[in-house]
This record gives sequence, structure tokens and C-alpha cells, in this order.
Amino acid sequence: MSNNENAIEVRELRKSFGEVVALDGIDLEVSRGTILGLLGPNGAGKTTLVRILTTLLKPDAGQAKVLGMDVVGQADTLRSFFGLAGQSVTVDGNLTGLENLELIGKLYHLGTQQAKDRARELFAQFDLTEAGNRLAKTYSGGMRRRLDLALSLVASPPVLFLDEPSSGLDPTGRIELWDVIKRLVALGTTVLLTTQYLDEADRLADQITVINHGRIIASGTPDELKDQVGGDVIELSIKDKSRLGEAAELISQFGVDQPKIDFDNGWVKLSVANGGSVLAEIVRRLDAHQIELEDFLHHRPTLDDVFLALTKQPYESNKQV
Ligand SMILES: Nc1ncnc2c1ncn2[C@@H]1O[C@H](COP(=O)(O)OP(=O)(O)OP(=O)(O)O)[C@@H](O)[C@H]1O
Ligand SMILES: [Mg+2]
Repeated sequence: MSNNENAIEVRELRKSFGEVVALDGIDLEVSRGTILGLLGPNGAGKTTLVRILTTLLKPDAGQAKVLGMDVVGQADTLRSFFGLAGQSVTVDGNLTGLENLELIGKLYHLGTQQAKDRARELFAQFDLTEAGNRLAKTYSGGMRRRLDLALSLVASPPVLFLDEPSSGLDPTGRIELWDVIKRLVALGTTVLLTTQYLDEADRLADQITVINHGRIIASGTPDELKDQVGGDVIELSIKDKSRLGEAAELISQFGVDQPKIDFDNGWVKLSVANGGSVLAEIVRRLDAHQIELEDFLHHRPTLDDVFLALTKQPYESNKQV
């Protein structure tokens, strides 16, 4: 398995922790200069895969290469070729933000001035300039997260692993982060990013791999995944919440599968083959039974719908394991 086009290649990778099978035979390829979004709920195996690819953990079986280097056999050489921003932030709170960055620069053998310049450049990029001389322990959660991401970029590595990079960032912070990632990729960096946010994977990733219980359950471009669901999605908000079940039954004949009811929010959701014409019929049908609509949406499937179709379970990003 050596294809020079691929920055990351994974074959039949397995890892268990006692009884828990974290990775149950994973195959992956990531082309150079692209973003792979590794998507999955809590406990899916995302961090385990990232830890193996970044040489922090040994697999039980299978093989993984980053830039053609084996993650077990060539771990020492490989370490200077990637950046990692892990799921838990590794900032040293007793150093200032700039000192944290300079320290990493020195570890990567940048000269003192070069390390300083790079630190300032990254601070500006992550909008941290004003906080540069404050101790990192005084930073907010979002600021620490941004500092941690900046640390992973000090050495301008050709491959970057980001494990849930946007957790803890506010909406503006997330958008800024996406911009930084896109700029890096435009310059040739390869990124593997894990996320629980479907919209993030949708916006950023060239390819998405969805994992659940340590197995790949789908992969493709965001559009390819949505096409797998087939058709459009119609969502109806019913005014009288006690009639949700009745509404679902009335419209079920128009769907390609059974309607799903969201009792908490008062919505019925249906996948349909031909959204435009069916919507009018659905509205007429409900109207004939005096079921009033508060709102309705008609859209292409989201990745949430993809997950639902694949697992028959709604995507629950906050599910605890
Ligand atoms: N060091 C460990 N010891 C025991 N079990 C572990 C260990 N690391 C991970 N696991 C288990 O392996 C499975 C996969 O965990 P992993 O951290 O890879 O999931 P994840 O997809 O990153 O989840 P999250 O979205 O919560 O970060 C889980 O069941 C987890 O409890
Ligand atoms: Mg994780």
C-alpha cells in the first residue's frame, strides 16, 4: 500500500481496550492537500484513530501510514511531519500565550527569532494578539482552544490532525477556525479532522467518513452521502402537539419511509421522492383533517438525515457513553 498521492493510508486497523472494541477494522485514504472529516457520535472511535495515526497509541492489528511512514515502525521520524491539536487542550497555563508558542517553536528547532516571529504571526491569525502577554491560565476556554490550535501549527506541518477542533469555540470562533483550515489546505496541507458537528463536516470536508462503534458506516463527498438518502426532506411543525401522531399517520403514504416524530419540538419529518408536488398534497391532506401547520421546511437531506438513514437512529452528538 504505497500511493504517493495519499498523505494518510489505513488498512484493517483494529484496537480494543479490554472488552471494548474501539476500532473494528478501519480502512481509509486521504489524498494530499485535502480535508477528511471523520464524523461520529461519542465513543465512535475517532480519538482512538487519531491517537494511532499520531503515534501515541499502538494498534492491535492492521497498518497505518502517514506520508508513507509506518506509524509504528517509523514513529520517531514521522513525529516531526505532523501537527496535532488533541481533544483535550495541552496549553501550559503558567506560561503566557506567546511563551507557549515560542517554546514549541524551539522544540521544533526554529531559531529564537524565528520562533518569536512565528508565534506573533499565529497570534494575529487566531485573533489572540492582545492576550499574548497574559498567562494562559487566565484565558477563557475558547481562547485556550485557539492557542492550542496555534501550537499545532508552529512548525507548518504538511499533515494536521485536529480532534474536535471547534468544541468550545463560539460561532465566530468556529468560522474563523474554518477559514484558517481552508487557507492551510489551499497551501497544500492535508487535514484529518474529527467532529461531532454535521454542519462542520459539510462545510469543510472534501471527503467524509462516518464511523459508529469503530466501523465505517459510510464514506464519500458530502453530496454523495446526501444522495444516498435519496429525495428530499419535508419537515412540518404542527400547531396542536397532541395531534403529531395523527399527522404522521396521515402523511405516511407520501414518504419513501416512515415519518419520524420529534415530540420535544413538535415536528414531523418525512423523506419524499418528489418534494415539490408532494408538499402541496400533504398540506391539503392535513388541512382536510383540520390539522393546522405552524411552519414547514422542504430541503435536501442533511448529514443528520444521512446518519438517521444509516443507523435508524437520530444523530445525537451529545449522547454520553
Ligand atoms: N484508554 C482507554 N481505556 C479504555 N477504553 C477506552 C480508552 N480510550 C477509549 N476507550 C473506549 O473506546 C471507545 C472509543 O473511544 P474514542 O475516544 O475513540 O471515541 P470518540 O469517537 O473520540 O468519542 P468522543 O466523541 O466522545 O470524543 C469508547 O467506548 C471509549 O470508552
Ligand atoms: Mg474523541
